[in-house]
Amino acid sequence: MRTQVGIIGAGPAGLMLSHLLHLQGIESVIIECRSQEEIEGTIRAGVLEQGTVDLMNAIGVGERMMREGHFHHGIELRFNGESHRINMSALTEGKNVTVYAQHEVIKDLVAARTQAGGEILFNVKEVSLHDLDSDQPKIRFRNQDGDLQELNCDYVAGCDGFHGPSRPMIPSSIRKEYQKIYPYGWLGILVEAPPSAPELIYANHDQGFALLSTRSLEIQRMYLQVNPNDDIAEWSDDRIWGQLHERLATKDGWKLIEGPIIQKGIIAMRSFVCDPMQYGRLFLAGDAAHIVPPTGAKGLNLAVADVQVLARALDAFYKKGQKDLLQDYTKTCLRRVWKAERFSWYMTSLLHTDPKHSPFERRIQLADLDYLTSSRAAMTSLAENYVGLPMEW
Ligand code: FAD
Ligand code: DHB
Repeated sequence: MRTQVGIIGAGPAGLMLSHLLHLQGIESVIIECRSQEEIEGTIRAGVLEQGTVDLMNAIGVGERMMREGHFHHGIELRFNGESHRINMSALTEGKNVTVYAQHEVIKDLVAARTQAGGEILFNVKEVSLHDLDSDQPKIRFRNQDGDLQELNCDYVAGCDGFHGPSRPMIPSSIRKEYQKIYPYGWLGILVEAPPSAPELIYANHDQGFALLSTRSLEIQRMYLQVNPNDDIAEWSDDRIWGQLHERLATKDGWKLIEGPIIQKGIIAMRSFVCDPMQYGRLFLAGDAAHIVPPTGAKGLNLAVADVQVLARALDAFYKKGQKDLLQDYTKTCLRRVWKAERFSWYMTSLLHTDPKHSPFERRIQLADLDYLTSSRAAMTSLAENYVGLPMEW
């Protein structure tokens, strides 16, 4: 088999890249180890930056998002039993965020690729990358019938998430990895209930962080800070509701609406950056190259930003034979990635309760929250990062 760009992974990065390349007249094939049902059913992110929404609309995959997504002009920060609204639109000249689940974005992108005759090979196994430092790299794998296949391409895009086979192909002698593991986990639930609030609520509490988000008028998404080593079996529905009520409580009697919990799970939290994001003809994008803790809602949006840079660089190569944008790929992406890493680390440090913090450090955290919610300059900084920093080409 042959194609121009071989893409490993049908997450937001791989699917978006394939669609962007298609619109530029560049062929690609995506190979994915999971089934279509699995990628379209995995519950993950929910918040799309303004730039992600604008891109989806510009490339013709935003129609359902505009109908079913929720447009939020502000967020609420809660601490000491009081609510403080950050009016993001007012502070960022009208920008906002859209709550639209990642698996819905995936469904829309798969539908667009399928409609355009794009090739996505699901259920592949034993994926390996070869000859990346030549001008004819190859991806070998077993297809869903177990047959060995070789995909010859000009370039390989490693969009295979944090645990995929692409990143380790960058020789360790030139690969620098920056990492921070947090002593926090997030217990996420999906609940059948109407929304308890019109906007997202990020709550800081002595018992730990809590987040109230939404999916639709019927389904809500909520998160609790837990110990990352906790077994989900230790968290009965009653215990979850007890903690959510306590951490989200306000002095003015705001009420959290309960409902049946239809899904629950715990994720660990880390910050991670790989530098460089490229080696020979291999380019990493999204979680394959960097991870942020979810507090800033940046992971999916960073994946989308990377592939915009990559698609543009590949376009310059195929249309004009220009290689400089490809050569600068790491530099271009990492400038913005590091700012999102900083913001995600900051939001995480600001909102979570650190079991190792002294009373002094806890008071500093509360002073930070007080400053943030009373200074227009500080609120503007939070808002411009939350709605998404501009692309830096
Ligand atoms: P992935 O989505 O991980 O996709 C990688 C794909 O590669 C997968 O489909 C995988 O099956 C495939 N793959 C892996 N190995 C192989 C292999 N060997 N062969 C073939 N295929 C392979 N981000 C936000 O922006 N906003 C949020 O609100 C937000 N909230 C989050 C909440 C939670 C609970 C979690 C877990 C994450 C959240 N994120 C959020 C992060 C976001 O989900 C990720 O950053 C995003 O999925 C990254 O996309 P990706 O395409 O790079 O990687
Ligand atoms: C959601 C996830 C996040 O990480 C976040 O910061 C806000 C909302 C969500 O899944 O809805």
